[in-house]
Formats: sequence, structure tokens, C-alpha cells
Amino acid sequence: MSPPDADPRGGYEVRRGDHVVSDDPARLDPDAVHRLLLGTFWGEGMDADLLRRAMRGSHSFGLYRGEALVGYARVITDYARNAHLADVVVSDGERGKGLGKWLVECVLDHPALRDVRTWQLATTDAHELYRRFGFTETPPGQVMRRSLDHSPWMGVRASVEPPSADPASSASTSTGPPAEEMGGESACQMHRFYDLEES
Ligand SMILES: CC(C)(COP(=O)(O)OP(=O)(O)OC[C@H]1O[C@@H](n2cnc3c(N)ncnc32)[C@H](O)[C@@H]1OP(=O)(O)O)[C@@H](O)C(=O)NCCC(=O)NCCS
Repeated sequence: MSPPDADPRGGYEVRRGDHVVSDDPARLDPDAVHRLLLGTFWGEGMDADLLRRAMRGSHSFGLYRGEALVGYARVITDYARNAHLADVVVSDGERGKGLGKWLVECVLDHPALRDVRTWQLATTDAHELYRRFGFTETPPGQVMRRSLDHSPWMGVRASVEPPSADPASSASTSTGPPAEEMGGESACQMHRFYDLEES
């Protein structure tokens, strides 16, 4: 499938009972997304303007019950070879009803996204949610990251900082805090290949 000529964002809507997944940018309130993400472990203190910029460069999906935004996911992608799934969240009161699975399913099934060859995401504890969609852990040593953020939940310190001068500190710029600081879970990168040729 060729990359789409027109902006593929918008016009996609899937209904299930009282809930709707929509990629209509006009319907999505960035402040409501911000509120949702502030409640996640990675979004604590997230800057609203930075999120707006991120959303402008992403393909966003809102999960709605009536007019209320109760879930969100976004995809950073070239619509052909690579896509990164990020900021997947379902609001507290709506969790455990299958909505997170449905939201991810709707995202992966979007006509402009379903043929993307390789998907990646990062997770600390939701591996089983994504495994059912074909995501697997990336082999150690194959994924690198450069970040201006301190992202302790990912176990990765900003790689643009100089290494610690303290030789006693085992948390170098590449390893970050120990797993206990991340809720005892190991952060990990997962990917999903359309076929093995692309790997
Ligand atoms: C993760 C999240 C999006 C899942 O949405 P949900 O609507 O609660 O989940 P669902 O009801 O669709 O079920 C998710 C399935 O994945 C499993 N799962 C695995 N890890 C999970 C996790 N960390 N959180 C929730 N479910 C998880 C569940 O057990 C369930 O499996 P089952 O169908 O076999 O019972 C939601 O709980 C949430 O927003 N959590 C906080 C933010 C977060 O951690 N996002 C993931 C970032 S990688």
C-alpha cells in the first residue's frame, strides 16, 4: 500500500455500545487529553504545550463515552514503514472493561496504519496487553534512544547528559535508576513486525 497523499487523520470512527473511537482532530480536546495523561505514571507533570506540539505531529485517537473523553492513544508514524504507539490510556472509572484492548485494536486497524511494517512502543508493565496484538520484546541491544527528558520510568537517563563522575554510582547515563524505582518492573521496548523481511 502506498503512503496516503492526503492527511489520513480524521474520518475514522468505530462504535461499540456507548463508546466510540474517533480520530477526528476537531473532536479531540487537548486539555482533556492532558488531564487523562496527568493521571498516568509517565505523564505526571507533563507540560501541556509540549503535549499539544506532540499531538500536532501525531495521529491521535480519542475514546469517547458520549461527549466525554475516556481514553486516548497516539501514533507517530510515516504511514508506511514505521509507527510508534504512545500515550495509551483509559480513564480510571472505565478500566477493566476491555476498552484498552479495543482502543489498541482500532488504532492498529486504521486503514492508513494497518499495513505499516514495523510498530514499536515502550511499556513497563502492560506487555500482555500488547502481546495479543503481535508485539514482542525487542532483542537486547538493538534499540537505542536519545532523550532530553529524564525518564526514570523507562530506566533511561538523558543520554545527552555527561556521565556521572562518581565511579561508585552504578546508575550511569545509560542505565538509569534501579528497577525498584520503577515499581519493580523492567521497562522494555516492544515491536511488531508485519513480516520477517523487514526485521
Ligand atoms: C493499560 C490500560 C490502557 C488498559 O486498559 P483497560 O481498558 O483497563 O484494559 P482492558 O480491560 O482492555 O484489558 C487489558 C488486558 O491486558 C491485560 N493487561 C496487561 N497488563 C496490563 C496493565 N498494565 N494494565 C491493564 N491491563 C493489563 C489485562 O489483564 C487484560 O487482559 P485480559 O483481557 O486477559 O483480562 C489502562 O489500564 C490504563 O490506562 N492504565 C494506565 C495507563 C497505562 O499503564 N497505559 C499503558 C502504557 S504502556
